[in-house]
Amino acid sequence: MTATRNVPFFNYPQVYLDDKEKLLEILDNVGSRGAFIGQSDLLEFEENLAQYTGIKHVIGVGNATDALWMLCRAAGLTSGDEVIFCSHTMVATAAGIHFTGATPVPCEVGFGWTMDPQSVEKCITKKTKAIMPTQLNGRCADMDALKDICNKNGLMLLEDSAQALGAKYKEITAGGFGRGGVISFYPAKTLGCLGDGGCVITNDDEIAKLVRQYSNHGRNEKLETEYWCLNSRLDNLQAAFLNYKLSKYKQSVERRRNIARIYHAGLNKIEQLVLQPSPDNDPNYFDIFQNFEIEAEKRDELKAYLVDNGIGTLIQWGGTPVHLMQKLGFTQSLPKTERFFTRCIMLPMNTSVSDEDINYVCDKIVEFYRNK
Ligand SMILES: Cc1ncc(COP(=O)(O)O)c(C=O)c1O
Repeated sequence: MTATRNVPFFNYPQVYLDDKEKLLEILDNVGSRGAFIGQSDLLEFEENLAQYTGIKHVIGVGNATDALWMLCRAAGLTSGDEVIFCSHTMVATAAGIHFTGATPVPCEVGFGWTMDPQSVEKCITKKTKAIMPTQLNGRCADMDALKDICNKNGLMLLEDSAQALGAKYKEITAGGFGRGGVISFYPAKTLGCLGDGGCVITNDDEIAKLVRQYSNHGRNEKLETEYWCLNSRLDNLQAAFLNYKLSKYKQSVERRRNIARIYHAGLNKIEQLVLQPSPDNDPNYFDIFQNFEIEAEKRDELKAYLVDNGIGTLIQWGGTPVHLMQKLGFTQSLPKTERFFTRCIMLPMNTSVSDEDINYVCDKIVEFYRNK
């Protein structure tokens, strides 16, 4: 079959090509100054991002996986502790916990594809020290319920907000609910750089101070080494690119929210689908739509039909929730999450697609189910 249109899931060259002239100008400027590590562009970006999120400290680091580990370590997690996380996440969430010596304990996915508070309660033991929801697809979890659980049980709240820069619940920005969160600047993220990058965001002065040291060989401001650490700094050049992209970020989030509205208008009557909540579903949530993930009956057939029609889709995490990564030692069974992973699929959601592209995707999905 020859497709009448081509809608890739994500168009990596556009991360560069959309802003080519400006990015080349930035490269020339940074390169000519020899400003490669820890220079003014990084400090400016950290300040600008702190201002955008309303969170006091931003510490640029090598990627969000390192950020998670450093956040967990700075929060004092250690061997013998348990931390509950949602199994519908990247393995990086669990790895961040694991590398402190603590045990990551997976729980079920709930409404809006985020951490299920009831499942969290069932996972609490005497060893539980913290919970770490993933603010998945650019949407915060049910933070009132999760904060209640933390308060009742004396638990710390940490966030994997890698996918949720600027997402809000009741006016609090992802990363600002507990002791800290992280952001990923992986190229396909809502604020993507031209390589790897990430940061820790926190309102906690002590966490901020420790993460800064951990990311730079354990050295303090006087360059005295106080901890065993590695090197995980955000490149000054990437920070300069990000600074520019941040200046257009609000528009790009608005565009994503509009794409989600088009998906809702086109797909909300199809009984065989469950859609990620619409931007207008609940005024308490401000979602930034890193992804548009749906549950679909006959998911694999639908995916193949869309491929035949030139449409790229993706099943998150290669189709495996973290608790099924048995080689990492997980033994839990989570029936709701396992069912979800037979049905979930992500549709194109990025600023390179046009309204016509999204309407075409909707038409093809309608056509697929009409014939079933
Ligand atoms: C939920 C989540 N956590 C952590 C990460 C890790 O981010 P990075 O690739 O910057 O290490 C990602 C990236 O895909 C993610 O989506």
